Amino acid sequence: MLKSLVEEIYKIIMKRKVLILGGGGFIGSAIARILSKREKYDITIADNFHHNQDDEIFTHFILENSIKLFKADFTEKSSYDLLDKHYDDFYMLASMIGVNNTLENPHEIIRVNTALISNSLEWVKNNSVKNLLFTSTSECYSGTIDKFGYKVPTNEEIPLCIDPIDHPRFTYAVTKMLGESGFLNYSRVFGFNCKIIRYNNIIGPKMGFGHVIPHLVERFIDGESPFKIYGGDQTRAFCGIDDGALGTIQAMECEDAKHEIFHIGNDVEITIEDLVKETGRYFHYKGNYEIAPTYPGSVSRRCPDLTKARKILGFNPKIDWKEALKETLDWYVNYYKENPNKRFFEGPNKFYK
Ligand SMILES: NC(=O)c1ccc[n+]([C@@H]2O[C@H](COP(=O)([O-])OP(=O)(O)OC[C@H]3O[C@@H](n4cnc5c(N)ncnc54)[C@H](O)[C@@H]3O)[C@@H](O)[C@H]2O)c1
Repeated sequence: MLKSLVEEIYKIIMKRKVLILGGGGFIGSAIARILSKREKYDITIADNFHHNQDDEIFTHFILENSIKLFKADFTEKSSYDLLDKHYDDFYMLASMIGVNNTLENPHEIIRVNTALISNSLEWVKNNSVKNLLFTSTSECYSGTIDKFGYKVPTNEEIPLCIDPIDHPRFTYAVTKMLGESGFLNYSRVFGFNCKIIRYNNIIGPKMGFGHVIPHLVERFIDGESPFKIYGGDQTRAFCGIDDGALGTIQAMECEDAKHEIFHIGNDVEITIEDLVKETGRYFHYKGNYEIAPTYPGSVSRRCPDLTKARKILGFNPKIDWKEALKETLDWYVNYYKENPNKRFFEGPNKFYK
């Protein structure tokens, strides 16, 4: 009896204490799912559930895995009072995202993301965190690729640049640059370990509705014909959610990496035309396609160079883009079956200058 009690206490003490701010979201909840299977973590999720992920499945997952949950708006400083004073790992994922959001509410992107970053920086400064990971984006160097012809696939050495500065789309990238600089510099001054992840197009079930894939599903279901391919010759690389979440955990837990930036994604570069036509095959689409211009501010090529992540983290994405796409399409097709009147695609034309 005493022995098992001691064992229980030992297990609790030895657990790695993890905070996932933004853990109700697409990537944060995937990180929590992976960690919860490993049993050596004491997990806390904090989120305002902006994306409404706190459904029955999520609630069940939280209860089943004894995850602590704080539902609050962390643009408010007082929300941080809910948290404990010490965490081993702080995943800082909370952010306002989405191209349409940037175009329609750029002021909110600036307000929400800068408040989340600045509140988190000050909270970390005044509390005890061993490792912090901040999630940034490949959008931070979209200007460098198109303006200065930098190499694609792109490594972490690339200078960050957006252009033009007043374009609403880039409010998001500007706040991520603030986060990168903020966390790297606070970490050196206040003595915690810090990693920056720049994600490249992570896809999977429940990834939100402001994305090309759910938009394609809506349009194929609605029978668009000819089917427009916006920016068909642009390239991207799509990474399955399990790979993206695992790479994030590998970066957080890598003892050899201190104050480092990693590009996490998949390095198989495909065209948007490839993506649309693969989706068309899924829907057995027999009509014609038509190439159309893309969203303004959309970079022509994007693909991460994973050499550094492979070498230092042992990161090796395993899910093929077609497999990741199929899993994503399955989920959205089912969603639209259950919610036949929901539509989110508004077309890029609305936003042309
Ligand atoms: N998904 C991608 O391909 C991708 C690409 C580049 C960068 N990122 C970054 O990765 C992180 C996670 O992205 P995601 O795709 O899971 O997005 P997501 O929107 O699903 O997750 C972000 C979470 O932050 C929460 N949040 C927003 N404002 C908050 C607030 N005021 N208080 C508390 N919580 C708040 C949201 O409710 C949401 O659950 C984000 O920082 C995003 O910028 C993602």
